[in-house]
Amino acid sequence: MSDTIEPKSDTVAAYPLLAAAAGERPARRPVWFMRQAGRSLPEYRKVREGIGMLQSCFRPDLVCEITLQPVRRHRTDAAILFSDIVVPLKAAGIDLDIVSGIGPVVEQPVRDAAAVAALPALDAQQVEPVAEAVRMLRGELADGVALIGFAGAPFTLASYLVEGGPSRNHERTKALMYSDPQTWHTLLGSLADTAITFLTAQVEAGAQAFQLFDSWAGVLSLADYREYVQPHSARVFAAMKELSPATPAFHFGVGTGELLGAMGDAGADVVGVDWRVPLDEAARRVGPGKALQGNLDPATLMASWDTVEAQVRRVCAEADAALAAGAGGHVFNLGHGVLPSTDPGVLTRVVDLVHSL
Ligand code: CP3
Repeated sequence: MSDTIEPKSDTVAAYPLLAAAAGERPARRPVWFMRQAGRSLPEYRKVREGIGMLQSCFRPDLVCEITLQPVRRHRTDAAILFSDIVVPLKAAGIDLDIVSGIGPVVEQPVRDAAAVAALPALDAQQVEPVAEAVRMLRGELADGVALIGFAGAPFTLASYLVEGGPSRNHERTKALMYSDPQTWHTLLGSLADTAITFLTAQVEAGAQAFQLFDSWAGVLSLADYREYVQPHSARVFAAMKELSPATPAFHFGVGTGELLGAMGDAGADVVGVDWRVPLDEAARRVGPGKALQGNLDPATLMASWDTVEAQVRRVCAEADAALAAGAGGHVFNLGHGVLPSTDPGVLTRVVDLVHSL
């Protein structure tokens, strides 16, 4: 299997995203957007009509079409698999749904040792429709456009399971973490296994890079992150490096300015940065050798084009300063996902602008 999941170096050179992640200087700066597929696109709203979000994630034809939509429109350097961080939990048999405008809602929140012990393990067969979509996508994507797979990191998945849905303060999650560390570590260990199985299915099917989303890790102090979270995320990265050493690993969270070094240390090749820390400062926090991804504030896209252009140029200039100071590479992206009210025409102009700089 290893010959199918280890890209040759000539392959890497043909993909600006893979080259930047590997610390090379591609001819053009790669750009993609978190949540580039989704409600900002009228063609997405059309194909999703009458089909539930989770239902759509288990239909390879729909996953393939929705993943390709933003690439066709914006000519990004990467496609990100259309799926969700809770898809492997659903596949394993956990009763949950994604409610439009709210997010994942879990029927029976997981709040004690008995509930953690009863969590089902994910079997790779259960995410076979996702693997099938990845294979279809690799046949469809143009040369040079890399396919990124992803999974939710153990902490962010745990926060949905423990809270039962989206949360502002993550108080039940932190209560479990502090009051019953043993159960906490069992829970995160189990979710690390889920992430490894989900990512392995995607990489073996042809995903050329993957991003581990720890979207809500920024609610933790650095000390708590290191003690309660980092070892589990590190196990995910280590398992994936062993499976496929040449597949670049991206790691991202929101409000993680204080955690950037630790998130890199967990084992990522590319560290995602939201809009709160400029990339040259982020490079100092992450340390030399790792690439950076980000970090335009998605709300900026609502402003006038002059403002957007100035901000895109600023991000690229700060990235260049980061590269001069030892950062491995830069992948242009937003600091978090595309907001649903974004004018997709502005995203296309941002791609063209980044490529022209
Ligand atoms: O980025 C992409 O284009 C790929 C698709 C993708 C989705 N979810 C599709 C989606 C990815 C990478 C995710 C990951 C995800 N899901 C994260 C981590 C990334 C991040 O944004 O921090 C998180 C925290 C989730 C959980 C989740 N799922 C939320 C918070 C929501 C939004 C709820 C809402 O309706 O506003 C979802 C639903 C979801 N996932 C949608 C999409 C396109 C919207 C569903 C719809 O179209 O009705």
